[in-house]
Amino acid sequence: MNVSAVTRAPGADLTRCELTYIASQPINVERANKEHRAYESALAGLGVRLISLPSEPGLPDAVFIEDAALVLDEIAVLTRIGAESRRAEVLNLAPVLEQFRSLHYIAAPATLDGGDVLRIGRTLFTGRSTRTNAEGIEQLKSIVAPYDYEVREVDVDGCLHLKTGATSPGDGLMLINRDWIDANAFQGYELIDVPREEPLAANTLRIGDTVLVSASFPKTQDLLESLGLRAAALDISELEKAEAGLTCLSILFT
Ligand code: GLY
Repeated sequence: MNVSAVTRAPGADLTRCELTYIASQPINVERANKEHRAYESALAGLGVRLISLPSEPGLPDAVFIEDAALVLDEIAVLTRIGAESRRAEVLNLAPVLEQFRSLHYIAAPATLDGGDVLRIGRTLFTGRSTRTNAEGIEQLKSIVAPYDYEVREVDVDGCLHLKTGATSPGDGLMLINRDWIDANAFQGYELIDVPREEPLAANTLRIGDTVLVSASFPKTQDLLESLGLRAAALDISELEKAEAGLTCLSILFT
C-alpha cells in the first residue's frame, strides 16, 4: 500500500485550542495523548509508515496537522490556516515535507485549511468555510492546475471543515451531513446520510479497505458495516473536545 502519515503529538496547551462550533469542556491532556498514540498504532497496524513529530509548545492546535498542508502526488501545498492563532504551524512542518515534495504556499490574504480539502483521485473537493476563503480556493486552483487536478468548490455552513461533514468511506460513496454540506457538489456519488443522532460522524478515515470511524458514533459504524464496509472504531473522545476529527490528526500520502 505504501502510505505514509505525518502526525504531531498533542501538547500541554491543547486546553487552549480553537473552538468554533462546539462548547468548551475540560480536556485531559494525558488522555488526549493516549488516544493520539492509539491512533498512530492503528495507522501503523494498517501498514502506514509513520512520521511522528513532537508537540509544538505555544501552538495548541498543531496536533490537527492536516490543516497545515496538503501532500499531493507531485507537490505539497503549505496552507495559510484560517485561524490566526494557528498560522505558525506550517513553519516546522515545511522542512519535513520538503524531504518528500517540492513546496508551494498559500499566501495572504488567502486562507485555506487542509480539513477543507477532500481529495478523491484527481479531484480536490474544497470547502468554502469560516476557515477557507474564496482567495484560498483560487490560489489552490492555480497551484494544482499544472498537475491536472480539478478543484471543486463546496459550500460548508454550520461545521468547521468540509471533512467534518463529508468523507468518502468507499469507492463511489459519500458519507455526509446535508445540514452542513452542499450535497450538489457530489453528483455521481451515492450519498449516505449520517444518522440524525450522530451529526459529527461523517469524518471517517479510509486506509486501504478499512474505514476508521470515531467510537463516539456506533450507529454510523453499524451503518457502514451494513453496506459491506470494514469499519473499525477508534476512541478520540478527548480529542473531540478540541473539535477534532479522525482525518485532522494526520497528513496521509503515498
Ligand atoms: N481546534 C481545532 C480547530 O479549531 O482548528
